[in-house]
Amino acid sequence: MNSYLIKGVRVVDGEPTDLLLRDGIVAETGRGLSAKGAEVVDADGLVALPGLVDLHTHLREPGREDAETVDSGSRAAALGGYTAVCAMANTSPVADTAGVVEQVWRLGREAGLVDVQPIGAVTVGLAGERLAELGAMADSAARVRIFSDDGNCVADPRLMRRALEYVKGFDGVIAQHAEEPRLTEGAQMHEGIESARLGLPGWPAVAEEAIIARDVLLAEHVGARLHVCHVSAAGSVEILRWAKRRERLTGRPSKVTAEVTPHHLLLTDDRASGYDPVFKVNPPLRTAEDVAALRAGLVEGVIDAVATDHAPHAVQDKECEWGYARPGMLGLETALSIVVEALLGDLGWDGIAERMSRTPARIAGLADHGHNPAKGRPANLTLIDPSATWTVEPTALASRSRNTPYAGFTLPAKVVATFLHGQPTVLDGKVLR
Ligand code: DOR
Repeated sequence: MNSYLIKGVRVVDGEPTDLLLRDGIVAETGRGLSAKGAEVVDADGLVALPGLVDLHTHLREPGREDAETVDSGSRAAALGGYTAVCAMANTSPVADTAGVVEQVWRLGREAGLVDVQPIGAVTVGLAGERLAELGAMADSAARVRIFSDDGNCVADPRLMRRALEYVKGFDGVIAQHAEEPRLTEGAQMHEGIESARLGLPGWPAVAEEAIIARDVLLAEHVGARLHVCHVSAAGSVEILRWAKRRERLTGRPSKVTAEVTPHHLLLTDDRASGYDPVFKVNPPLRTAEDVAALRAGLVEGVIDAVATDHAPHAVQDKECEWGYARPGMLGLETALSIVVEALLGDLGWDGIAERMSRTPARIAGLADHGHNPAKGRPANLTLIDPSATWTVEPTALASRSRNTPYAGFTLPAKVVATFLHGQPTVLDGKVLR
């Protein structure tokens, strides 16, 4: 294993320093370090962040390897500055058994570019009828701690209660895709003025808000951990603010966490006006008021983390009529730049590190991740050029799919290098495989 000496890097918001990576950890820090045999990385002008951690990645393997594989998704993740991703369970077959989560976990180790932590399904086949083998998945080699039917909501309140009770025993968490299905039947985009104008059936914000409110109460009743996926509406932020206030009132530690995607922090529902399905996503893009509330909620800490909801789709599933297109957009390779664009001024690098690495690592229970690069810490980190800009070219992305909503956007900040367990996965902006 090679050692790496990173010269002159600013660690988060700090002064320039050197970092010596050896044997998988940050072995030394300080100005003017030298180390025989170490490869030198000139990081003058670069910022080092703890390797980013994604709580919500669709890797599509097994089943839709034409859209993404664990390997191609891992490459996209490393290029985006990630050192760990949580792989969603809506694969084919569904990741609802120890066998499937172990398969995904093993494929992640073989790819070797990010730590792939499988998420297990809550219900068998994501059908919302019977609990999946949560305990067997938790005890498997993949050591699953997050369970989600994402793509589908666990709509039955009794089943949701049972799932929360079950995972409480091993400090697991239910990550809920909050969507009351009876309110979104046939929905194609956010319900509002734009949907009326375009003649597309609407997905009302109340379908998300109602489930979040219900689940906050259920999680509190059970005393279990709830994580709310891809919060998209201003009203949801209000409910989460209320939930966190309740926790302060009851004096018990916070058990409700929430994530927001980069696309919900930047894009609005008027993007649908050209009927280009690249902007079709679930939950849908909403209004400028929603975007403002999501940004404020993230800055305030009511929303805990940014998660990509990286959702690759094959060309035939995306380049068709809006009504037939699958929802979802790529996210891994653009997430950091979008967050910088939307919120660097409000969050600073430390706030970004908190919401894209330290907090998601804590929520997922990934002990090796989410540490600022400091002496003795695991060497999982990413180096960013804050002064670079780049233009998104879909065909240049590492993902197998092309459904980025940012084609042609010029974005700030570029990942220059990523290190996983002390070894580079990306150098000079190029993935090393
Ligand atoms: O837009 C989405 N795409 N939302 C989801 O919840 C699922 C995801 C997918 O799997 O494509």
